[in-house]
Amino acid sequence: MLAIDGLRKVYDGHGRRVEAIADITLTVEDGEFVCIVGPSGCGKTTLLRCIAGLLRPTSGEVLLDGKRVTGPPPGLAVVFQEYGRSLFPWLRVADNVELPLRAAGVAREKRRRLVAAALEAVGLDDAHGAYPWQLSGGMQQRVAIARAIASDEQRVLLMDEPFAAVDAQTRADLEDLIRRVWALTGFTVLFVTHDIDESVYLGQRVVMLGSPPTQVVEELAVDLPLDRDQLTTRSDPRFAELRGRVYAQIQKAKLEKLEKT
Ligand SMILES: Nc1ncnc2c1ncn2[C@@H]1O[C@H](COP(=O)(O)OP(=O)(O)OP(=O)(O)O)[C@@H](O)[C@H]1O
Ligand SMILES: [Mg+2]
Repeated sequence: MLAIDGLRKVYDGHGRRVEAIADITLTVEDGEFVCIVGPSGCGKTTLLRCIAGLLRPTSGEVLLDGKRVTGPPPGLAVVFQEYGRSLFPWLRVADNVELPLRAAGVAREKRRRLVAAALEAVGLDDAHGAYPWQLSGGMQQRVAIARAIASDEQRVLLMDEPFAAVDAQTRADLEDLIRRVWALTGFTVLFVTHDIDESVYLGQRVVMLGSPPTQVVEELAVDLPLDRDQLTTRSDPRFAELRGRVYAQIQKAKLEKLEKT
């Protein structure tokens, strides 16, 4: 469904040249939950922005349903790293969620129905009228998720370290929430994180990226049961094995890079 083929991105300007992504090739199946994990600065956000059509690759291409992505494709939404900046403080929760639907020209009644369903899916049915700044960080992030999933055509959800800025307890709740939303909607989810445990807990597959110039280091199938919960899953010996594997690969990639330089 989603194919990233030989993607390379070089930032060039203001006398600074950064080869953020050297060469990434990756395919994602319809309805799959894939986590992308890699060290800070390895180009995870850059990759997502290229997939979302917000940034043009230097070479290579992104194909969605066989069509080359050249601008933001319909049916694809992004939850950004800094959720604090992604909601409009002067709009109530429901209006924030409704905004992209308005922009897409969805009829009023349908907008109302989609907004209500999305807010219910993230457990915020009682917060329609609140302003973002009246909510906790975790709730604000749930609003951002609701906005991303409030659509009829929605099929792909890209998430960029969405839970990095909340406390551990809230983070665990949000992880379970996003797994529920995924099970409920059948969306294809591409979830970027620098947290190894989170990548194993959430995904059906973990794609590991190395340090810049970035390539895929390894892909790992997460063969944990579909039904996951914070206690049982995280104390499963298989979970420990998988996270150890991801950790070792990322360390190895870092060392190899150091030896080369
Ligand atoms: N607009 C830009 N102009 C120039 N360089 C950029 C730009 N955006 C990112 N970079 C550089 O590209 C590299 C990758 O950045 P990117 O934000 O994609 O990494 P990341 O993996 O998302 O990092 P983090 O985990 O800290 O969010 C970095 O060296 C960064 O400085
Ligand atoms: Mg980033």
